[in-house]
Amino acid sequence: MPLVASVQSLSKIYRKPGTNVEVAALRSIDLDFVEGEYTAIMGASGSGKSTLMNILGCLDQPTSGQYILGDIDISQLEDDMLSQIRSQRIGFIFQNFNLIQQLTVLENLEVPMFYLGIPPVERRRRATELAERVGLLERLDHRPMQLSGGQQQRVCIARAMVNDPLILLADEPTGALDSKTGVQILALFDELVATGRTIILVTHDPSVAHRCQRVIHLHDGLVHKDERNARHAVQAEGGQLSEEVVGRSC
Ligand SMILES: Nc1ncnc2c1ncn2[C@@H]1O[C@H](COP(=O)(O)OP(=O)(O)OP(=O)(O)O)[C@@H](O)[C@H]1O
Ligand SMILES: [Mg+2]
Repeated sequence: MPLVASVQSLSKIYRKPGTNVEVAALRSIDLDFVEGEYTAIMGASGSGKSTLMNILGCLDQPTSGQYILGDIDISQLEDDMLSQIRSQRIGFIFQNFNLIQQLTVLENLEVPMFYLGIPPVERRRRATELAERVGLLERLDHRPMQLSGGQQQRVCIARAMVNDPLILLADEPTGALDSKTGVQILALFDELVATGRTIILVTHDPSVAHRCQRVIHLHDGLVHKDERNARHAVQAEGGQLSEEVVGRSC
């Protein structure tokens, strides 16, 4: 499978405002992500998960190291190019949805396509198709406040897909949902992975991570473990599917 994203010797150092105190949020990490892979990122609070997601999502730049997304070296880009790449190649799903409250579901889906220069008829067609895909065709005229949390997250997922992104990134996508609704959202992710989407999500919940093909554990800005869950592997040798989790400690 081709690589969609790769980070090498990636570091992020924050400086506490007004002081010389530095926080090394990521410390020279190396990771590759292949097309169609479903990855969970876990780790204690402060271990660097959101920092990594923000860099992968082109919301922030590393302090040093390299990030290649598709065939582009992101680490070399200026801010305006970074936001252009973000809107063209990244789908970001937020814990708290980040929908525009004044706009309907349909309009929320159309806004990013407006900025991508997609003509109105095509915007409407694609927004409607995505709303159907996430089961919200009957809610096109509703505003976010009129939707349940799970429905709002579905809009967020549909919105993240309007640009047909290389990767879908989700930081705690079920964190604001009750467990039953969370499972429905994860089932939607399973469907997207089955159609070849590449998804990277952050979670604190082992049962969420268990659904993923790969689990990366961050600890204090380092990759502590990078495990592939063999339950999801295509047929193992001899046609046997193993329940074993194949671990690789770093
Ligand atoms: N803008 C910032 N300025 C200074 N320090 C920051 C900034 N953002 C994050 N940090 C620090 O970087 C480290 C990693 O933060 P990060 O938000 O990536 O952790 P996290 O793993 O996502 O944690 P959580 O599970 O609580 O969301 C922490 O020590 C945090 O305090
Ligand atoms: Mg975080």
